[in-house]
Amino acid sequence: MNTALSAWSVRRYGGPDQLVPVTRPLPTPGPGQVLIRIQASAVTRADGMMRAGVPRWARPFLGFRRPRKDLIGTCLSGEVIATGPGVSRFAIGDRIFGEAGLNFGANSSHICMEETGVLMRAPDGLSPEEAAVMCDGALTSLNFLREVAGLRAGEKILILGASGSLGSAAVQLACAMGAEVTGTCSARNTALVSSLGASRVIDYTQEDFRRENTRYDVVFDTLGVSSFDQSKSALTTSGRYVCPVLSLDLLCAMLRTSLFGTRKARFSATGMLKPDVLRPMLGDLIDLVAAGTFAPVMDRTFAHNQLVEAHRYVETGRKTGNVVLV
Ligand SMILES: NC(=O)c1ccc[n+]([C@@H]2O[C@H](COP(=O)([O-])OP(=O)(O)OC[C@H]3O[C@@H](n4cnc5c(N)ncnc54)[C@H](OP(=O)(O)O)[C@@H]3O)[C@@H](O)[C@H]2O)c1
Repeated sequence: MNTALSAWSVRRYGGPDQLVPVTRPLPTPGPGQVLIRIQASAVTRADGMMRAGVPRWARPFLGFRRPRKDLIGTCLSGEVIATGPGVSRFAIGDRIFGEAGLNFGANSSHICMEETGVLMRAPDGLSPEEAAVMCDGALTSLNFLREVAGLRAGEKILILGASGSLGSAAVQLACAMGAEVTGTCSARNTALVSSLGASRVIDYTQEDFRRENTRYDVVFDTLGVSSFDQSKSALTTSGRYVCPVLSLDLLCAMLRTSLFGTRKARFSATGMLKPDVLRPMLGDLIDLVAAGTFAPVMDRTFAHNQLVEAHRYVETGRKTGNVVLV
């Protein structure tokens, strides 16, 4: 067996150039741990934030002056190649996927993880690349639609950034939940967003949803491009504005709307939820994959030695769906 692990390290917060390839000894799984040979890992907007150490309020979790855990990457898929004492959920040879969370290290050749972490057996219907991205857009969007927004069948939802990782998952999931979906994206992505199930697509470069008379029960601003105050006029009187990008604006809106008014602003940090909460959600996503109702949208695939290029590409803010490293 291979005795070395190849990975990418970030010692100082900064741009993609801070990413350095490193080799470390292969870890031995301890009690309750599994050693995974990684086949594919996601390159996400959140990985870029971890690398850059922004926003600064996240540094208590990441490390104040430099990353506390230097190996980068959060979401992965692969094969169990060794198990520690007491492991019962997985066996050698299992194809699995999940997220390393604040332990990071998913953009590596191998990783040791707790079997009780956010790890699931990969369904047959997903390639290693598709399985690797499930914990980014799909898991986050399911959390936001179901738990944060409380979206119900028959409601109208507007998804801002419908062609991104979160947005392309949210369109499919909201349709599966029986909602009427409108999405925003630019002209190059309108056909894709329609094909994912949106009944209407607004090209944000040509039209402004805030100038229309349509009212939505939920606005899911996947990119933080329209604040609660800017979006309020597009909400029904009991409408919910939900956004995964935390800002001072959003914090103030959450505080204000928790005390006054019937329209609400809400946020959640999905990756900070307990594995016991996230695993059942992944189970529901696996069921949707098996039913043919959900499939992650894939953009470019980069080789393991191209992580710097992959980060540069993700930071253009123009990716369509998900980017992976193999
Ligand atoms: N809180 C949480 O739990 C959590 C978890 C995961 C991620 N996040 C955050 O969620 C955010 C979104 O991540 P993501 O990966 O989904 O983004 P992404 O994939 O990078 O978004 C890119 C897409 O956005 C579209 N776009 C750009 N500007 C737009 C605009 N003004 N209006 C509508 N669409 C626009 C682009 O389409 P065009 O090129 O056609 O414009 C592109 O397809 C990130 O900030 C990430 O950190 C939060």
